[in-house]
Amino acid sequence: MTAGAGEDAFGDDSFGGDSAVTAEFVAGDGDIEASLRPTSLDDFIGQPRVREQLQLVLAGAKLRGGTPDHVLLSGPPGLGKTSMAMIIAAELGTALRLTSGPALERAGDLAAMLSNLVEGDVLFIDEIHRIARPAEEMLYLAMEDFRVDVVVGKGPGATSIPLEVAPFTLVGATTRSGALTGPLRDRFGFTAHMDFYDPPELQRILLRSAGILGVQLGAEASKEIAGRSRGTPRIANRLLRRVRDYADVRADGIITRDIARAALAVYDVDQLGLDRLDRAVLSALVRSFGGGPVGVSTLAVAVGEEPSTVEEVCEPFLVRAGMIARTPRGRVATAAAWEQLGLTAPPEAAAGGIEVRVNEPPQGSFD
Ligand SMILES: Nc1ncnc2c1ncn2[C@@H]1O[C@H](COP(=O)(O)OP(=O)(O)O)[C@@H](O)[C@H]1O
Ligand SMILES: [Mg+2]
Repeated sequence: MTAGAGEDAFGDDSFGGDSAVTAEFVAGDGDIEASLRPTSLDDFIGQPRVREQLQLVLAGAKLRGGTPDHVLLSGPPGLGKTSMAMIIAAELGTALRLTSGPALERAGDLAAMLSNLVEGDVLFIDEIHRIARPAEEMLYLAMEDFRVDVVVGKGPGATSIPLEVAPFTLVGATTRSGALTGPLRDRFGFTAHMDFYDPPELQRILLRSAGILGVQLGAEASKEIAGRSRGTPRIANRLLRRVRDYADVRADGIITRDIARAALAVYDVDQLGLDRLDRAVLSALVRSFGGGPVGVSTLAVAVGEEPSTVEEVCEPFLVRAGMIARTPRGRVATAAAWEQLGLTAPPEAAAGGIEVRVNEPPQGSFD
């Protein structure tokens, strides 16, 4: 069954908000997400290499009694970047100060944040690729020398006042590490690339969440939900909540495999976990552009979305699922994409004649 891959879904131009499988944070996720967040490295399921490497970075710093290198966490939404930032502070036994790139519009916003830091604090900047230029330049000096130059006044009378900043660890999170400027990227001592989770890991996450929420979730049912979670813990946890509603209202509260299947059909989540935007992108690529190649911005216009949403939210999973290939000339639908839409792929796609480039990022790297 490819539930809901029907045409009717494609006409609607508002995606995301009502989709059960958007990886982005939506209102209503808040309190529950907080209760489901892993709180220590041992509690964190999956990403074994990132975990091992971070463990060493943190233990090394503790041993020397200093602050660890600045850490950059990159990867698609919902994979645990914010959770990991909180874990870093918790493991260091220090406070976490939280802000985001878009909130740091002026250098003064960042200066205020920095001057309030206490030695050892972790400063978490979410969506760090969206930081404004003047704040970014101030950050360079803060990261390197733990000081900033605050400019007072304008024009020829302006003076710059040096300000000490307590030694801190910056943790940056980004869905687009490619959008970071070279100088900013270079100032992170450790970069962790979070990758999609495999189904057994998602199953473990689901069983853990079920335990916290007091939900009875069978092993087969957890497998069913895991398989449709797009490799993303945030989606897995959200689907679990939707399935729980169904089990509570229409059954006896116990989530069996059949209950999970029936609930997921109601929420229009197909077996691969593709949502309406994914299906719209695939449909546009195949039906409007004959399978490509087509540029991502053209594709975005065709589905009425921002290019960044298509590129950062939708595409990583479609590439991972083997539906879309990135080629030098644009995006191309694979044979699997045609099949997903119930169509026969043209010979060049079916024969794998298109150039497929798989750019698997390394799990973690020291720069
Ligand atoms: N490794 C993990 N183990 C258990 N739960 C996880 C894990 N990673 C993420 N989650 C769950 O997914 C939710 C979203 O994670 P979050 O850290 O906010 O992702 P990101 O910041 O990358 O968008 C968290 O609230 C948590 O419940
Ligand atoms: Mg986050």
